[in-house]
Amino acid sequence: MVLNTIRDANLAGKTVLVRVDFNVPVKDGKVTDATRITAALPTLNYILSQKGAKLVVMSHYGRPKGKKNPEFSMAPVAAEFQELLGKPVILAKDVIGPEVEAQVKALKAGEVLLLENVRFYAEEEENEAGFAKALASLGDVYVNDAFGTAHRAHASTEGVAHYLPAYAGFLIEKEVKFMSPLLENPEKPFVAIIGGSKVSSKISVLESLAKTCSTIVIGGGMAYTFLKVLGHNVGHSLLEADYLDTAKAFLAAAEKKGVKVVLPVDHVCAKEFAETAEPILVDSVDIPEDLIGMDIGPKTVKLIKAALADARSIVWNGPLGVFEFESFAKGTEAVAKAVAASKGVTVVGGGDSVAAVNKFGLASKIDHVSTGGGASLEFLEGKELPGIKALEK
Ligand code: 3PG
Repeated sequence: MVLNTIRDANLAGKTVLVRVDFNVPVKDGKVTDATRITAALPTLNYILSQKGAKLVVMSHYGRPKGKKNPEFSMAPVAAEFQELLGKPVILAKDVIGPEVEAQVKALKAGEVLLLENVRFYAEEEENEAGFAKALASLGDVYVNDAFGTAHRAHASTEGVAHYLPAYAGFLIEKEVKFMSPLLENPEKPFVAIIGGSKVSSKISVLESLAKTCSTIVIGGGMAYTFLKVLGHNVGHSLLEADYLDTAKAFLAAAEKKGVKVVLPVDHVCAKEFAETAEPILVDSVDIPEDLIGMDIGPKTVKLIKAALADARSIVWNGPLGVFEFESFAKGTEAVAKAVAASKGVTVVGGGDSVAAVNKFGLASKIDHVSTGGGASLEFLEGKELPGIKALEK
């Protein structure tokens, strides 16, 4: 996949319309995690460094369902963005319309206007042509750096690219640079660690990565469905009875391809699914009838570390246990540390595993922590992301 990037664009003197993903967590009117804003700064600063360029920035925030709702205003985001950018950010009152057009016209070189939430218009998610054209009329050039929203074919992520010269920002370029090789020609051994609670939401990514990886580690709640298929007792652990055949077929296909599958061999269990539940170590693959698997045990951690020891590429998506509960976070933490210590190229994607890496303070030791939740999952599933497709050369 070869993209048009902002390096290819002549931005001098232009009004540059940039789509970012500033859909960040906000509490009591304050942004609590600005990772996505920080991640877009190299692109925004680069544009501002081009002589005479003006910046019109747009994003969605939350899911206001196509209605103007002050609860979903970009105001808290604008305040944090201004702080991190280190220069004034004007917050537009609207997304399109005469008032916004006048504000864009009044922009001077080096000035920054942030549009209101693009999802205040239902036409955004409908990718309606008139709305996309109205957005396009606000700039001379379009840059997309919203990797986190690249799996949505919306007006601001896809539609607008039909009406303006369209380029990828540095963040999208970096995300693709780290993730594409995993699906095409990863350096081997390539180990994929896939966790999370459901087979149903991870089976596509397992199937996709099984095409290129040497070893797949399966952990988290979905591992119990796989263990059940292999004839083990899983007690009261999470089980997707509808997916037993799918899990069976996956294991058979992996074996045929020579992909090694690592499943838990011991567990940390509990009598009830609760934060305060007492952790009970079960030193066997089988889980007693009255217990629930909550985390991988120390023997499984050892197995995973051994699998990672000589890995040249590693991707991790999804926690290995209920890491939000302190007593059941050890497995996920140990694996996060092992990934961080690896000499191979390490990529972490997906909301929960990124949260885990941040919780354990390891983000700076990972080569690439994706800013995409759903987007990185779909990318690893091998799906075409419409927001990126629109930027291809
Ligand atoms: C995300 O947070 O995953 C992106 O910003 C996309 O948001 P959405 O799931 O509401 O489209």
